[in-house]
Amino acid sequence: MNITLLSGSPETIHTGTLVIGVFAEGALPPAAKLLDAALGGRLASLVKLGEIGTEAGATLVLHGPAGIAAERLMIVSLGKSQPLSDKAFRDAVSGVGKALAASVAPEACVVASDLAPAGRSTEWLLRHASRILADSAYRFDAPGRRRAAAKPPGAGKIGLIVDTAANEGLEVAIREGLAIAEGMALAKDLGNLPGNVCNPAYLAQSGQALGKEFGFEVDVLERADLEKLGMGSLLAVGRASYSPCKLIVMHYRGGAAAAKPVVLVGKGITFDTGGISLKPAALLDEMKYDMSGAGSVFGTLKTIARLGLPINVTGIVPAVENMPGGNAARPGDVVTSMSGQTIEILNTDAEGRLILCDALTYAERFDPACVVDIATLTGACVVALGSHASGLFANDEPLAAELLKSGIDTGDRAWQLPLWDDYQVQLKSNFADMSNLGGPAAGSVTAACFLARFTGAYKWAHLDIAGTASTSGDAKGSTGRPVPLLSEFLLSRSRGG
Ligand code: BES
Ligand code: MN
Ligand code: ZN
Repeated sequence: MNITLLSGSPETIHTGTLVIGVFAEGALPPAAKLLDAALGGRLASLVKLGEIGTEAGATLVLHGPAGIAAERLMIVSLGKSQPLSDKAFRDAVSGVGKALAASVAPEACVVASDLAPAGRSTEWLLRHASRILADSAYRFDAPGRRRAAAKPPGAGKIGLIVDTAANEGLEVAIREGLAIAEGMALAKDLGNLPGNVCNPAYLAQSGQALGKEFGFEVDVLERADLEKLGMGSLLAVGRASYSPCKLIVMHYRGGAAAAKPVVLVGKGITFDTGGISLKPAALLDEMKYDMSGAGSVFGTLKTIARLGLPINVTGIVPAVENMPGGNAARPGDVVTSMSGQTIEILNTDAEGRLILCDALTYAERFDPACVVDIATLTGACVVALGSHASGLFANDEPLAAELLKSGIDTGDRAWQLPLWDDYQVQLKSNFADMSNLGGPAAGSVTAACFLARFTGAYKWAHLDIAGTASTSGDAKGSTGRPVPLLSEFLLSRSRGG
């Protein structure tokens, strides 16, 4: 996707599709008002006639509109009410993005100056509009699927018209938005690939390819290395798979040599059958998305490497397939984690915490500024928060606040849940230091409390993305979340706050 900054009078711009936003009711926004004069009052009369959908993002296309130079005019609803909210902005821009991705015109210009929500800067507007427009054009090209004869056309080139003079800051904002969309596309591709393609070795190759493309170090630890490190918990999960476990460690070094890295740890269960505690058949295919935390780590690294951010980030991905089999871990097995703590595996389907705990212990050696793990960890999180917010847990309040803010800023939101010690008793075991099962109450909290036992050495946050990383139903697919949240978190750190 090519997105550029434009200025000038929209009515004079020769373009395939000119896009303008209007509210379903009330006065026209400033740029729409000027355009309306050139159109002889068409926009105002469409509003008056009730032709503008009340849902933000609804579009209407006029062909060969008289009075302006564009071949088409796309009118997008900004919703019913003024002023514009962040959500109406996102809905409007994604409506435009989807309509442009399906349109025959190869290029378009969007009058962006009217689209800024109250209190949001032009940089914010451009960063988010670019990201959403590019992301709306995402298509998954499944390997082996026969391509449709003609690729849908779609606008590959979009100009954003603002009322401020072009400057470096605005250009950077567009580059940031595009880089975030690129990171999301990688996370989506990895998530959407089937489990028989995207196995631990595939994830390792993807990490190595990323390191090669952007010139950062990638180490892949093999099963024998993990045995030497004493990662008995991680290895127990992968035992019955024909695809051996890997630990993928990536070091992006854009900051000062002495600057402590932010460490991102992504759950990389490439398929979660549940193991001996086998999952039921319904929707089991969606357990290919159980590596979405890993996907978000790869995607975020791609974003920051593309931008060359002056910050050090280490990505750690435990890549494991959770299968049943004659060699599988049994309920009741006791394993010793790298930390030395023993774990009674009461349910082999609570495997995410078993691979993460060893990866989190491994993270200590990088003397992290902070560690954020990202995991499709619990069905209970989907029950609690649905698909709108990721669950957030943290042992450090400023870090939690930083992540929450990045979520609000990007619309890729998280909601904080408690990590109180009161819940720790639910993990008691008669046969080991802890069990991996916290019982039916507060399943997301007890999963986070389990991880907290391995993260005492540093500032740590945990994002449970079970409900946000993918969607079910007709539009089944990976969402690329939380790449926007994580990228914004790192961008704002690299800006120095
Ligand atoms: N990968 C699942 C969690 C999940 C469920 C992600 C639904 C996305 C959608 C995880 O490994 C799991 O199976 N968790 C169990 C834990 C339980 C056995 C304590 C769960 O949530 O049922
Ligand atoms: Mn599971
Ligand atoms: Zn899982």
